[in-house]
Order: sequence, then structure tokens, then C-alpha cells
Amino acid sequence: MVVASAPGKVYLFGEHAVVYGEPAVPCAIERRATVTVERRADGKLKVHASDLTLDGFTVEYDDDADARPDVDVADSLIDAAVGYVNGAIEQARDAAGAPEVGFDITVESDIPLGAGLGSSAAVVVAGIAAGTRELGVDLPTEEIADRAYRVEYDVQDGQASRADTFCSAVGGAVRVEGDDCRSIEGVGNLPFVIGYDGGAGDTGQLVAGVRSLRDRYEFAADTVETIGDIVRRGEGVLAEGDLEELGGLMDFNHGLLSALGVSSRSLDAMVWAAREADAYGAKLTGAGGGGCIVALDESRSARTALEYTPDCEAAFRAELDAEGVRIEST
Ligand code: MEV
Repeated sequence: MVVASAPGKVYLFGEHAVVYGEPAVPCAIERRATVTVERRADGKLKVHASDLTLDGFTVEYDDDADARPDVDVADSLIDAAVGYVNGAIEQARDAAGAPEVGFDITVESDIPLGAGLGSSAAVVVAGIAAGTRELGVDLPTEEIADRAYRVEYDVQDGQASRADTFCSAVGGAVRVEGDDCRSIEGVGNLPFVIGYDGGAGDTGQLVAGVRSLRDRYEFAADTVETIGDIVRRGEGVLAEGDLEELGGLMDFNHGLLSALGVSSRSLDAMVWAAREADAYGAKLTGAGGGGCIVALDESRSARTALEYTPDCEAAFRAELDAEGVRIEST
């Protein structure tokens, strides 16, 4: 039996635009998905999953069966969750040259599902690491990231960047532009505060929405490019550690994501609550539509303001996690 874990992430800048080749800067946070994998003799997969949004479900299936857990969550989220776990196992089998092998899999996560904190990437990355190690193969981190990206790409119908999976695999702050993925060294701790509205967005649909706006209007395509400009500027500011300007750029980035139609009333309410509590800046993180915002604030004010915001179900501080995927036990 092997247990592996991988971190979730927030986007300091650049979600959505990264899908079209602009750079993005996601940062791993100290909230992890943990996947336990044990080989089964009968070739079947049995998956038990639990996290903040899914109370816990168990699915038993072989590869052809239509696995549908009986839980009160949108079908698209369940399909995606099952797709990510299946994909991770497929990759582990492929990497080990053992296509028929069965597993008992348990997924535990303190990252809410579909909420912009990279839960799916963390599950896939940890799943591939645990599955391959259980089969006696030790994959380099870059290969885990690459295989995890292929899973996201398939589940999201070809509309995925390498950002979430690379960040979860290597940890820390990273820069992703197309296939060029690298760690950003020397980033001090960033005072992230997260607000969570208890909801989730459908990444595939949200990405498709931005794509159709971008195809329809030149100014929407310009908006995507402008997000890239914010990221290019933000990288320099990050290196200088100027939180005031970083926050201002996050505000700008949020405005452009809003213009692209991926914010929501509750995300905007949380962003404004954090700003009015004198956070340096705040923006939605991830695909949007619902889920989480990230604010920069050294004091307790933004977190307290979020706790008193009716649209906010949970508010918490998140530390940058320098460590990516790791084997917890074998
Ligand atoms: C989702 O976490 C981030 C998006 O940019 C999609 C992607 O990069 O794959 C919206």
C-alpha cells in the first residue's frame, strides 16, 4: 500500500488566459489531496472518495462499468471526479506497463472540489505518484506533471493548460506559458487569505464560454492578452516583493476575468469584502463561476470581513507550500 499527497493551488495571476498561451503564476498552498492505493488481485478498481463537498462516496467498478455514486452533487462534477481518478490510474498502469492491474483507491482531500483550488490536479498528481510507486516504478516529478496534464486535457475536452498539474507536482510558485513550465525561486511567503462560497464552477463550461467570447469579439481576445500583460508585470513585482502593487494587479486581473464572464455574484461579494477590509488586493482563483477568491492581507481584517460576508461559507489563511507531490508512506 502506498500513500501519496499533492498540494492545491491559488492563481496569483493568469487563469483562463493561460489556456491561450499567455503566462500564468499559480502558487501551491498547504492544503493537500491524499491518495492511498493498494493493488487488487481481481483487476477491478474500487474508489472511495471524500472531501469538503462530497460527503464521501464509494464506487466499485471495473473499467467499462458506468460508475455513478449516489450523492447530491451535480453530475458534471461527479463525472469529472471519476474521470480524474480513472485517468490517474490509466497513467499509472501505462507508466508501469501493467494495463490490467486492479486497485483499491482512497481519496481524501481538504481541497474543496471544483472551487478553484486545484483539487482535481492534486488528486491526479497524487494518484499517479501512488499508483506507480505501488507498481514498483519511481517516476520523476516532471513526468508525473506531464502525465497528470494529459489526464486533465482529456477530462476537460482538450481545454486545459499545464498550470494546475505542474504547480501541484512541483509545489511553490511557478510560471507556466504553453509547454514552458518553471519554478519561481526566492518567493517569500505571500499572505494569502481564501474565501469559499461553498459552491463550484464547471471548468469545461467556463473555459468554453471564454473561448466563444474570444472567438466572437476582438476586444475579448485583447482582454485575454491584457491578462498576459498583467502576469508579465506581476512577475517582476513578485520578485521585488511589493505586496501593494501585487494586490493592485490582482484587482485588475479580477476585473478582466469578470469582463470575460467567469465571476459570479458571490465571488464579487467576497472580493469586495476583502478589499473593503483593506486587503492589498483580491481576485477569484481558478475557473470561476463559484468557489474561491484569494486576497492578499497580512492582518486579520480580510479574513474577519469574509467570515461576516453572507456569501462566504468559509474563510481561511493559506501558506505557500514549497513542497509538491510526496510519498507519505509505503
Ligand atoms: C482552472 O483551474 C484554470 C483554467 O485556466 C483552466 C486551465 O488552465 O486548465 C481556467
